[in-house]
This record gives sequence, structure tokens and C-alpha cells, in this order.
Amino acid sequence: MSKLLVFLACCSAFMVLGASAKNVVCYFASWTIYRPDNGKYTALDIDTNLCTHILYAFVGLRDDGYVSVLDDWEISGLHEMEHLMSLKEQNPDLKIILSMGGWNEGSYKYSTVAKNPATRAVMVEQVLAFIDQYGFDGFDLDWEYPCQRGGEDADKANFVTLLGELKEALNAKGMTLSAAVSGGIASCELSYDIPGVAANLDMINVMVYDFHGAFEPFVGHYAPLYASSLDVTDEQKTLNVAAGIEYWLDQGAPAGKINMGLGTYGRGFTLADPTNTSLYAGTYGGSEAGPYTRAMGTIGYNEVCELYSDWEYFWDDEQQVPHIINGNQWIGYDDAKSIQAKVEYANSKGLAGVMVWSLDTDDFRGLCGGGKYPILNTIKQYL
Ligand SMILES: *[C@@H]1O[C@H](CO)[C@@H](O)[C@H](O)[C@H]1NC(C)=O
Repeated sequence: MSKLLVFLACCSAFMVLGASAKNVVCYFASWTIYRPDNGKYTALDIDTNLCTHILYAFVGLRDDGYVSVLDDWEISGLHEMEHLMSLKEQNPDLKIILSMGGWNEGSYKYSTVAKNPATRAVMVEQVLAFIDQYGFDGFDLDWEYPCQRGGEDADKANFVTLLGELKEALNAKGMTLSAAVSGGIASCELSYDIPGVAANLDMINVMVYDFHGAFEPFVGHYAPLYASSLDVTDEQKTLNVAAGIEYWLDQGAPAGKINMGLGTYGRGFTLADPTNTSLYAGTYGGSEAGPYTRAMGTIGYNEVCELYSDWEYFWDDEQQVPHIINGNQWIGYDDAKSIQAKVEYANSKGLAGVMVWSLDTDDFRGLCGGGKYPILNTIKQYL
């Protein structure tokens, strides 16, 4: 009897620990403080119980290896870094990570620093100094991408060397190293020595989104979970979440280090012919800009649910994702239903957890009737 009680106590404690041990790695895009009206998002809007890690996006890199602050006013005038660190008073277990890079930083500076042992050493030293100064718990590198966009072939090996030097220095101080990596197979083949990358990271955040968008002249969902029967070529069949994750696993990345990327946004198109709304139908560029995110061809989940709730809703059974249509506007995005399907997929693969880009486009104000942060809460419920 007492053995049974001990067993029950042990296992329920284990299950509680097990349930909270999965990673929910959330990007905080710091520039969203400048969005208008209900779109304005600040560090103090973060709910500290929905994420295990908050990644501050982004700082930049100088070609001499020093960290560059991309927006000094946001730190010195608006005090966002202090606000961010103050979140640990609400949740002492929260890890706040410094993230460097992103699409707008390009690849050339990273290639230049990574190829030279002297600039690599400066980068490692300066990253650690910056982390110490502001009180971060780790570092995340978003080099988009080695060997591409102004990088060179040697980046593939140099990326692994740079990660190894960063990881050694961070781990020695009890801190973690992660990186955001591509989830597109063609891009991965160009950029990564996957076993080398995996061995030199504590967490691998796989960006399994942006498979389609206004950079192509036809309709496609930005992050389908599975392929569609309308995907016919070998490449088309790989442009989805499951194919990207299975590729990283097949190439030798351990499931226990992989966080699967999830989006709180969507990508849309202006249809060339409003009567042809199918995948691969022709388009004339991106969908109209939303009032908060203010960029043609992309949209926040908060904009969709607050402003486009009267558009016609479609669920794609094969791809397990929704899209909405209004006249010549077609937008593919993620909602609670598709996020649940993706989280259940991540569970089925035994992944470490999920990564979310980004906090600011969930319905963080709770304006759509599903409470605050419906996407993040769905993740918490099903992961
Ligand atoms: C829609 O466009 C696709 C791609 O061009 C084409 O294959 C399909 O036949 C079109 N469907 C209709 C109903 O026009």
C-alpha cells in the first residue's frame, strides 16, 4: 500500500515536471512598440506564464565582431531592456535570451566575422559582455543564412566553428546557446552541416514557415503542416512543416534539441482572377497591408481576428491550415485549430518544444472573444 502511494506521488510529481519541461521559446520583436493603436506591443505586455524563454529580437553584429544596438532610443529612452528584465520578478524561472541577426541583418557581416579566428574571439567576448551588462540568460544566433545572401561556401564550416566557440563560453557560465535555422530543405542543403550544427547548440529553433508568400507569383500557404495533393513536384512536396522537421531529424539532429517554429501571423496575395482561389492560382503581388503590421503580403493573427472576421473562412484538410478570402484578397495564416494540430505533431515526434514568431501578433489584448493570447494559450494547453 505504502509502496503504491510512493509510486503515485512520484509519478504525479514526474508528470507535473514533465508537462512543464517542454520549451515554449517566444520571440519578442522589440520594434513593435512603434505600432499604432491596438497593434502597439511592449515588453510589459508579455504574459510571463506562457513562455519558458523570451528571445529579445534583435541586436546586430558589426564586421569587427562587436554587438550593435539597432535602436538606441528603444533601450535608453523607452527603457525596454529594463522592462524586459523586470519580467523575472513575475516568473523567476523565465529565461530571457539575447537574439542577434534576423533577415534585415543580411549574411555578409556574419560570414566576415565567422571566417577569422580573431573576429570570432571578439564576437564571443563582446556577446558575453553585452549579456552580462543587461542580465540575459543566454544567446540566440539568427544568421540568415550561411552560404547565402552575400555569404560564401566556407560559411558552412565556419558557422559550426563559431557556434562551438560561443557554446563553450556560454555553457561555462551556465547559459544556453540556440539558433534559428531554416526549415526549407533546399536552403538547409546550402547552409548547414546538420550534425555539426546540432552538436554545437543547446536548442535548435527550426523556422518551418515562410514556405510560400508574395515573393512568388502564385497562391500558397506560408506554413502548411502537410503537403497538398496539388503539390506535384518533389520540391513542392517538401515545402511544409512536417517535411522540414523530418529532414532535420533524418540528418541527425536530436529531437530533444529541436523546437518547432510556429507563426502567429500569415501571408497573403492579391488574386489575379478572384474566381480562381486555389493553391497555385496566379497572383498580382501581396495582400493589402494591415493597419498594425503595415507591410504588404504579411498580416498578424490579431489583425485577422479583430478586423477580418467577416471574410470567408476555409480549412484545408490536407494541409491542416486555414485561409480567408475577401474579393481578390487571399490570406493563409494559423489559428488555434492549426496550432493545435502542429503542437500535436511536435508531441508525436518527441520534440523539445516549440518556438513562436512572435508574441506581438497573437491577440494579446483579447479583442476577439477568445481571451488574451489565444494562440499561446493553445500551445500551453496541448504541448
Ligand atoms: C486556377 O489556376 C491554376 C494555376 O494557374 C490552374 O491550374 C487552374 O486550372 C485554375 N482553375 C480555374 C478554375 O481556373
